Amino acid sequence: MSGSVRTEPLHGETPLLAPSGSYSVVVLLRGYAEPLGAGDAVRADGTVTLVLPRGWASDSSRRSTPSADGGTKTALEEAVRGPILVDTGGPWARDALLESLATQGVAPGDVTLVVGTHGHSDHIGNLGLFPEAALLVSHDFCLPGGLYLPHGLCETQPLRLGSGLQVWATPGHGGQRDVSVVVEGTSLGTVVVAGDVFERLGDEDSWQALSEDPVAQQRSRERILSVADVVVPGHGAPFRVVREAAKSSEDQICEGKEVA
Ligand SMILES: [Fe+2]
Repeated sequence: MSGSVRTEPLHGETPLLAPSGSYSVVVLLRGYAEPLGAGDAVRADGTVTLVLPRGWASDSSRRSTPSADGGTKTALEEAVRGPILVDTGGPWARDALLESLATQGVAPGDVTLVVGTHGHSDHIGNLGLFPEAALLVSHDFCLPGGLYLPHGLCETQPLRLGSGLQVWATPGHGGQRDVSVVVEGTSLGTVVVAGDVFERLGDEDSWQALSEDPVAQQRSRERILSVADVVVPGHGAPFRVVREAAKSSEDQICEGKEVA
């Protein structure tokens, strides 16, 4: 497909970013990155996002702990039956994370899967709050107790978690094993929770300096922009993606005739 892609602020945003569909997307804590003025010091924390299965309710959620008995596919299916957290923020955000989860009616023990987009301290600093959850941190998938299971995730093979819910390999920022979560069918279309593949809206001139592999990250950014209607970046507000198809020469001729 050819055509232009642009990004723009997402107006009317509320904490409940994208209800409906099979999964709702709720930005619990919006990440930030603020230069302190002296030298290169930056105060920062990563975005924390909740993905909730439709119809999930806390009082009906007591789930059996995901097991390895049925293999990786079954373990993943069991892991997405409850609340899914994408990144956890830094350890300094512990209380804010617990409060924001509580406002959504979610206790830490309800969370069945935590996805860590990459291994930086401002994104996976609170994994210890979720010892009963399955963990997919970068490309490492493990069940409670530290039972690691193989899977085939790579750039050409997403990991399907549920209906309209996938994990993509999106290397670049933190190295070769970064991941993003793709949620289709929300009220805002396809939402991609992208970790630091995107730092924030308008980061085009700054993301390269923070990237372990800018070539791979550019590729990841283009893949995400080709499908996303909304991107949740690692250090800023969610933003909208607008794709405009290139007009064919036939269309242009027709428009010319109308004007004439
Ligand atoms: Fe990062």
